[in-house]
Amino acid sequence: MTSDAIVFEGLGFFLYRSTARDGLSAGDLDNIRTVARQRNGACDLSGCLHHEGGLFFQWLEGPQTQLRAVVDSILQDSRHRDITVLDEGPLTHRRFQHWRMRFSDRDQASLLDWFAQSRASTVDPHDYAGGVAAFLQAVSV
Ligand SMILES: Cc1cc2nc3c(=O)[nH]c(=O)nc-3n(C[C@H](O)[C@H](O)[C@H](O)COP(=O)(O)O)c2cc1C
Repeated sequence: MTSDAIVFEGLGFFLYRSTARDGLSAGDLDNIRTVARQRNGACDLSGCLHHEGGLFFQWLEGPQTQLRAVVDSILQDSRHRDITVLDEGPLTHRRFQHWRMRFSDRDQASLLDWFAQSRASTVDPHDYAGGVAAFLQAVSV
């Protein structure tokens, strides 16, 4: 029996908040969603994008090399600005296994409401990145 090593590249994740460009239309959002789902599918990435109050919150996960390439594109995209990295790092299990890019907005759930309610829940209101990640995971569309 051979002992050829099969190297599986580790998974990583990237979580950020950004400000949507002024006047971003429903068509722009549609385009972002469509391109994201196509490219994420081709790159074996998964994740979710939440749009609320002129802000984007996105969790993206997958093999590190593909993740980095797509994140680089996202960082240069003029449809948003003031990109703040909330968290990033290695990942043992995907959180959005079945979503090439789940999209949600204020109609589905509100991050502001989530934080307001989190005072009374198990989510630590001082852990902003953890709260955003927990919210994104809890949103069911
Ligand atoms: C808020 C936001 C989220 C995005 N999310 C993704 C994504 O998850 N995957 C993706 O491939 N492109 C995403 N895009 C689009 C990329 O920025 C980029 O336009 C696209 O990947 C095509 O890359 P290219 O222009 O370098 O070919 C997003 C753009 C914005 C503004």
